[in-house]
Amino acid sequence: MELKKEFGERIEIYGINYERRWNLKIVEKFARANKIFPENDIKKNLPKIYIMDAGKKINFKSSSFDFIFSQASVQYISDKAKFLEEVNRLLTKTGKAVIEIQEIKRKHPAEYQNLFEIWDNNKIVLFRNYIRRFSNIKIKKGKWGKDCSVLIMKKSENFKLNLKLVNFLDLNQINSKWWGTKAVFVVR
Ligand SMILES: C[S@@+](CC[C@H](N)C(=O)[O-])C[C@H]1O[C@@H](n2cnc3c(N)ncnc32)[C@H](O)[C@@H]1O
Repeated sequence: MELKKEFGERIEIYGINYERRWNLKIVEKFARANKIFPENDIKKNLPKIYIMDAGKKINFKSSSFDFIFSQASVQYISDKAKFLEEVNRLLTKTGKAVIEIQEIKRKHPAEYQNLFEIWDNNKIVLFRNYIRRFSNIKIKKGKWGKDCSVLIMKKSENFKLNLKLVNFLDLNQINSKWWGTKAVFVVR
């Protein structure tokens, strides 16, 4: 919404979310509390919210977004690799995405710490190391330390992460104090 404040009618903003309870009312409350727009302009400046699973095909045309932003969310998505490929598909040629990824959650028991677990030739490769081979992606440290990365992504033709999702587990279903979806991938 900060971008909408800056660029007004020159841009449109969209949001996607999996859960209906995270809806436009919360966004409106946030805009009001943070005084992002004058009171009378709030409603017309809100994003269009679509309820969908970001780990599946995202129902927008290819090359339709100049900027894609995601924070504190990828850890909940099951097919995190599919999500990143979809972000690439949706970006325009000159577009840019900023995607925060919490990879490791150290407070969980050992087997549930790695939320984006990648197996290559029977060895685990950290996501932040695996992703370095893709030249369209730069990786920076996130604000929560080394276990949380921020990907700065440009569009790449035929971008494929070559990861096959073999299983995933919503950790909150085991313990209400744990969060995120642990997803396990093998390199194809
Ligand atoms: C911790 S909140 C972060 C919300 C917001 N990005 C922020 O920074 O305040 C995580 C969000 O991810 C959404 N989410 C979880 N799984 C998702 C999925 N598979 N597809 C799309 N959104 C998802 C949840 O509904 C929730 O709104």
